Amino acid sequence: MPMTLKDVPGSPPHGGALEVRMAGDEERDDLEAEASRLPGIEARSRRVLSDLELLAVGALSPNRGFMTTDDYAGVLEDMRLSSNLVWTLPVVLPASDEEASRLGSGDRAAIVHQGTPVAIIDVAEVYRYDPRREALMTYKTDEEAHPGVAYIYSQPPNYVGGEVTVLSNPFAAEFGSYRRTPLQLRELIAERGWRTVVAFQTRNPIHRAHEYLTKCALEITEGLVIHPLVGGTKADDIPAETRMRCYEVLMENYYPNDRVVLSVFPAAMRYAGPREAIWHALLRKNYGITHFIVGRDHAGVGDYYGTYEAQEMFDRFDPAELGIQPLKFEHSFYCRRCGQMASNKTCPHDAQERVHLSGTQVRKMLLEGREPPPEFSRPEVARILIEDARSRRQA
Ligand code: ADX
Repeated sequence: MPMTLKDVPGSPPHGGALEVRMAGDEERDDLEAEASRLPGIEARSRRVLSDLELLAVGALSPNRGFMTTDDYAGVLEDMRLSSNLVWTLPVVLPASDEEASRLGSGDRAAIVHQGTPVAIIDVAEVYRYDPRREALMTYKTDEEAHPGVAYIYSQPPNYVGGEVTVLSNPFAAEFGSYRRTPLQLRELIAERGWRTVVAFQTRNPIHRAHEYLTKCALEITEGLVIHPLVGGTKADDIPAETRMRCYEVLMENYYPNDRVVLSVFPAAMRYAGPREAIWHALLRKNYGITHFIVGRDHAGVGDYYGTYEAQEMFDRFDPAELGIQPLKFEHSFYCRRCGQMASNKTCPHDAQERVHLSGTQVRKMLLEGREPPPEFSRPEVARILIEDARSRRQA
C-alpha cells in the first residue's frame, strides 16, 4: 500500500512526510489484475514514466499523484500548491480526447507503458489546459525552440489529475545500487553520521569547474552527494550511461569516498532554469539533503535565462519554507595566473588568463579525438568522452 512516512531519518521532507506511492508486494498481483480491466491512459513519454518513479519513491512529496487544477493553477501562477507549500513545476498526466472520454471523476484508470499497466490512478479530475500559458509561466517563453515548450506542444489536450499507486518501474534495473530511493539515501546519510549534506545536480560529465563547486561545498558540509539526473535529457546531451562512467572514474581518482556518495536522480530534465532550480532543490530535500549547489545558468538552455536568475529565484522565498539551503556559485574556471580553479568572485585576472571552452568547442575536440586541456577536464574523463564520441560517430 502507498504510505505516508512521517518518521524518517534526517531532515524533514517537503510538507513533513514522505509520500511513497509504490504498491506493496502483498497487493501487487490483485492490483495488476484490476489494472488489466481498467480504461487505459498511455504513458506517452519518458517524463511521465520518470514522474511515476519519483512518485513511487516519495521524491515528489507532498504530491501523491498527478496534479488537479487547484494545484496546477497555483503552481503556474504563484509557485505554490493549494496547501500553500512552495512548488514550482507542474507534475501532470496528459491524455487524449479518446482516453478522456472513457474516464469520469471517481473512476480508476491504468497508466500503460508498452501494453503493460505500470500504475493505477484514482481519477479526481480530467481537465483542459492552455499550453501557451503553461509554457509562458514555467519556461518564460512560448517559443517551440525551447525543448520544454516543444514538449508541452507535443502533448494531447487533457490532463488527468489524481493520486497514483505505482505497480512497476521499467527503469528499476538501470544503474543498480546507485539508484537509491529517498529513504535509502537518508539511511546512508544517517549511517555516515552527516548532519549537513550537499547535493550536486548535473546533466553533464563532471569537468573541472563542476568538481571545483562540489569540493568548495564539501569544505563547509559534512558530506557530498553527486546526484546526476538520469531520467531523460535532450538528445544532444551526453547519455547517462557514459556520464556514469565519468563520475565513477572521478570517484576512484579524485573524491574522498568516505565523504562522497554517488547516487542517481531519476527525474527527467525540464530545462526550466530558475523554476527548475527550486524544484531540483525541493526534491533533494526529500532525499534528506540539507544544502544544494546552484551555479551559473542552473537547468538553463540556450539564452532563455539570465546567468544568475536561478540563484535569484531562491531569494523570493522564505528560507524556512524551502527547508534546503542553496549554495550559490559564480561562474568558475581555471586561471593560469592564479594557477588554480577560481571564479569571478575570487580571481582578479582578465579573460585571456582563463581557460574557457564553449560546449561546441569541446564537442569538436572530442569528435576529433583530441583531449581538452587538463585545466578543463580530468584526462580520465576526457578519454571516456572521446571513446563515447567515437562510438556514436560509428553508430
Ligand atoms: S544543469 O542543467 O544540471 O544545471 P550542468 O550539469 O551543466 O547543467 O550544471 C550542474 C550545476 O553546475 C548547476 O548548478 C550549474 O549552475 C553549475 N555549473 C555548471 N558549470 C558551471 C561553471 N563553469 N561555473 C559555475 N557553475 C557551473
